[in-house]
Parts: sequence; structure tokens; C-alpha cells
Amino acid sequence: MSDDARDPSVSSARRESARGAARAKELAARGIPPEGPAFMVANDPPERGRRLFASECAGCHTIGGGREYKAPDLAGLFSLEWVKEQIRDPDQPQRFGATKLRGKMDTFGKRLAPERIDALARFVHARRDPARAEADPSLEEGRRTFARVGCAECHGLGAGEAKDGPNLHDYGSDRYLRALLEDPGAPLYFGKHSGMPAMRTRLTPDEIAAVMAYLRTLEPLPVHRQQQARR
Ligand code: HEC
Ligand code: HEC
Repeated sequence: MSDDARDPSVSSARRESARGAARAKELAARGIPPEGPAFMVANDPPERGRRLFASECAGCHTIGGGREYKAPDLAGLFSLEWVKEQIRDPDQPQRFGATKLRGKMDTFGKRLAPERIDALARFVHARRDPARAEADPSLEEGRRTFARVGCAECHGLGAGEAKDGPNLHDYGSDRYLRALLEDPGAPLYFGKHSGMPAMRTRLTPDEIAAVMAYLRTLEPLPVHRQQQARR
């Protein structure tokens, strides 16, 4: 990792362009098509997704920090660190603090020990493969804690079970991300307090797939990794 990537003060724009250049190099290593390198980069899904993000999403979302937040910062989306931060403090500014969902989920960092938050986060993070999350014995503590501390009151784990918070049946899977982007205000996701436009009326399925490919390339915020290491 470069020093820049570790320095939270480096502008996200600069890190973004470095990411674009690195991606071009990665693609070139696989062989350049007859249309040339510019064509190849422009049609690569993550690169196409990056450009769509700039026009359709960056008005509200930052990646890796900003001066002010209007919506969650999407660095490290759905990573284990992401889930821990959500449980610890959902109302931090780079999460839901600046949205109409502020205050709708408890701040569990105030009442749960870090080990319990870790266990919960591992269970929720594993939900992208729901059968595994239900069966894996190493996730048992998180599974039990989820029911015991009240997560289940606001979050359904069964497919299609709508409660006040997002349904976490297959949280973090491609299916979950696609459905959330298509209609974030659906009862299964952020519901009536959602402040995000439904992308199914703005983007084609192909474009949504490209944005998803781009989102999957984003790493956790360096500042969160540091907090995590200290905790
Ligand atoms: C009082 C209702 C409530 C409780 C209790 C609650 N949540 Fe939430 N949760 C929400 C709401 C509402 C959201 C939407 C975002 C927000 O408000 O922070 C959310 C969002 C989430 C998300 C999704 C964040 C994302 O990436 O989209 C996860 C994961 C989550 N909660 C996990 C948990 C866990 C684990 C617990 C128990 C420790 C818990 N929640 C307890 C209401 C709740
Ligand atoms: C008008 C502002 C706005 C625009 C434009 C917007 N979003 Fe959002 N987005 C939000 C808000 C606010 C939330 C918090 C949840 C909610 O209110 O629905 C959110 C939530 C999300 C989440 C869920 C984060 C989590 O914690 O689970 C993802 C992923 C996301 N947006 C991606 C995108 C992408 C990709 C685009 C562009 C294609 C986009 N958003 C465009 C405002 C916006």
C-alpha cells in the first residue's frame, strides 16, 4: 500500500485517479483488444461503473471521506469493518448521521463489549451466504447475540420479512445490493425514510451491474481500519 492510501487527508479525487490508472495497467496485462487501450478501459465494467458513479451518485455519496456528508460514505461497503462500524455507531456522519434515518438504530457501541460487536458483525457479514450463516458453528455466538440484544426486533432474517430496519436475509450479496439500488425505499430496505432515488427508473440493468462492479472494488476507509486496530 502507498503512503497516500494510508493518509486520510489525501483527497479522494487523487486516490480515485490512481485507482483508474492501476485498473488500466491491470487490464493491459490481460492483452489489449484491436480497438485499443482507451476502448478497453472505457468498457470495463468497474471503469464504466466509476463514470456512472461520478454522474449519478457522487452528488450524495463520497468515497473515502469528504468535507460534509449527505449520505453514507461507500468506502468498504459491506466489508466486515463496515458492519462493525454500523453496529458500533450507525449515526456517525459518514454513515447515517446526515440522513433521515439518523437515530433509527441504537448505538450499540455504548452498551456492548467490542467482542460481542465482533461476533455480531461476523454473523451479519456472513449473511451473503445465508445457509452458511445459519449453519456455521463459529457464528453461533453472533447468531444468539443477534436475537438476545434486540437486533431481530428491527431486522428480519427470513427472506422477504419486512421490519423497521433493512431485511438482512442475504445482506451484502449481489442480489441484496442490486435490489437495494433498484429500490432503496422499499419496505425490505430503508423504507419510507429513504432519501435515495430508486435507480431502476434511472439506470438500465446493465448500468446497475457496472456500478455494482465498481462498488465491489472499494476498500474500507483507512481511518476505520486504524480505529479498528486500536480497539
Ligand atoms: C430500533 C431498530 C433497530 C435495531 C434494534 C437495530 N437496527 Fe440495524 N438498522 C435499523 C435501521 C432503521 C437501519 C437503517 C440505517 C440506520 O438507520 O442506521 C439499520 C441498518 C442496519 C444494517 C445495514 C447497514 C447497511 O449497510 O445498510 C445492519 C447490518 C444492521 N442494521 C445491523 C444491526 C444489528 C447487528 C443490530 C443489533 C446489534 C441492529 N442492527 C439493531 C434499525 C435497527
Ligand atoms: C439524492 C441523494 C442520493 C443519490 C443520488 C444516491 N444515493 Fe445512495 N443513498 C442515499 C441515502 C440518503 C442513503 C441512506 C439510505 C436511504 O436514505 O435510503 C443511501 C444509501 C445507499 C446505499 C446503502 C448504504 C448502506 O449503508 O447500506 C448504497 C449502496 C448506495 N446508496 C449507493 C448509491 C449508488 C450506487 C448511487 C448512484 C447509482 C446512489 N446511491 C445515489 C442518497 C443518495
